[in-house]
Amino acid sequence: MTLHDRIRALARERGAVILAHNYTHPEVQDVADFVGDSLQLSVEAKNASAPVIVFCGVRFMAETAKILSPGATVLHPVVSAGCPMADMAPADKVAQWRADHPNHVLLAYVNSTAQCKAQVDVCCTSANAEKIVKAIPPEKPILFLPDRNLGANVMAATGRKMDLWPGFCPTHNRIEPAMVQAARAAHPDARFICHPECLPSVVALADAALSTAGMLRYVRETDAREVIVGTENGILHRMRKEAPDKILHPLSPLPTCPNMKKIELEDILRALETMSPTVEIPESLRDRARLPIERMLELSAK
Ligand code: 13P
Ligand code: SF4
Repeated sequence: MTLHDRIRALARERGAVILAHNYTHPEVQDVADFVGDSLQLSVEAKNASAPVIVFCGVRFMAETAKILSPGATVLHPVVSAGCPMADMAPADKVAQWRADHPNHVLLAYVNSTAQCKAQVDVCCTSANAEKIVKAIPPEKPILFLPDRNLGANVMAATGRKMDLWPGFCPTHNRIEPAMVQAARAAHPDARFICHPECLPSVVALADAALSTAGMLRYVRETDAREVIVGTENGILHRMRKEAPDKILHPLSPLPTCPNMKKIELEDILRALETMSPTVEIPESLRDRARLPIERMLELSAK
């Protein structure tokens, strides 16, 4: 039996659902029950009726699954798979920021720790950030953390001023305008899409800046035949499967998120065999961190 088949058989036996982010290894995506962006994965985790969720993505995503589905056993196969950007907003510094701005609405990108979420008013993902910002009363000043690039891109798109935490995604921050200009020169008929975690100077050159699910939809639905892709390379697997007629040009060099790539098939099998490592979050922290995520899901569904 292949590793894939052993995982599927054991998942069935355990009553487990396997969720994977669009940036994970192709073989991890292929073994999963559901692959998506962070918003879709949150909704999927919330609605999951399975007693066990195997979460293939970075830690904050597995934490969100546990917060939204506290009755389930959530397995995160490689505990060291974290998001460096989430770790750029430590809880004690966020508490100070909050205390210094008592009248602001504190908006957190879901790429943040549970301890950080427990202190904020509302969350957003890259898929709904503009919608959430527009739902905040215009007279309310906004603090946004931890991604200064997403924050600046949302400000440009909505015209809404926000104070930004100085965090960034090391993977997307590496993409430079010169790389886009070179790709556009090499492929003059292609559209260029990227993730809004990219620098504002890169987003300014894009035909669209979208969440990972949004980029997939764009590639499937665009009437352009060629698309230049400016995001983590894991997305190309689904794009090639779901839009085989499109010519995709990865930006060169296309960045990798080393943390998203930490989870391998062997880790998923071991997690299901040993039913560990589990994600554990104290109930009081879970209850507080759940509020801004639920608020996001409510506003996002409107
Ligand atoms: P998405 O919500 O677009 O999937 O992005 C998550 C992420 O970590 C991108 O770097
Ligand atoms: Fe975090 Fe960037 Fe990796 Fe996304 S791609 S998980 S933001 S480090």
